[in-house]
Amino acid sequence: MLEDNGSIRTLSVDIGGSGVKAMVLDITGKPLTERGRLETPQPATPEVVINTIVVLAAAQGEYHRVSVGFPGVVRYGVTETAANLHCDWIGFDLATTLSQQLNRPVKVINDADMQGLGAIAGKGVELVITLGTGFGSALFVDGKLVPNMEMGHHRFRKGETYEKQLGRAALDKIGEKKWNRRLEKAITSLQQLFNYDCLYIGGGEAVRINMNLPLNVKLIPNITGLLGGIALWKD
Ligand code: BGC
Repeated sequence: MLEDNGSIRTLSVDIGGSGVKAMVLDITGKPLTERGRLETPQPATPEVVINTIVVLAAAQGEYHRVSVGFPGVVRYGVTETAANLHCDWIGFDLATTLSQQLNRPVKVINDADMQGLGAIAGKGVELVITLGTGFGSALFVDGKLVPNMEMGHHRFRKGETYEKQLGRAALDKIGEKKWNRRLEKAITSLQQLFNYDCLYIGGGEAVRINMNLPLNVKLIPNITGLLGGIALWKD
């Protein structure tokens, strides 16, 4: 039996506003395959994004179950918001649909929540933010997730949200220097609000950070978004 469990392979999928990524993990969460990536098709309707996942999955070899990080609120496998994808995702049963397509059990969680599960130490207050097309956020207390914390759409400054001020569109518009200054203000504001033990910063644009970070702020590689996929099957 142990041997059987030990050979379970989990396909981990990260749906992003610009790319869809996939990789197979072993039972301990270690990568078994090279990460595959395809551009997120536009307009990013459920149908075309699911087709992209099916193509990526076919190139990943054997797997027994699937974890998906989705860039919006997810409840019981149903996607409830989708700020950077097509509005047809609102109220879409992604877990059931993908499970029928891939013929495997599927669990879906918010992308930042999944990234956090791959990064945290499991002690104290740990906050995760992701900087990509959107602004993702996840909060953990002693390793327990407060799900679907949508800080990205919360007011930050100048009447704008964290996502509007720090998302990829803002970065492209204002440039790295100004964006870094804004990010510094955001970190100060988040420290004052959450008094976290550790803040993790991930996402595709985290590589553009160019400042001295406080000791309790850590940068995490983008692959963490996929590594977190194993934690969905822990209980
Ligand atoms: C969504 C979040 C997501 C973040 C990063 C935001 O627009 O509302 O749910 O985590 O983008 O993808």
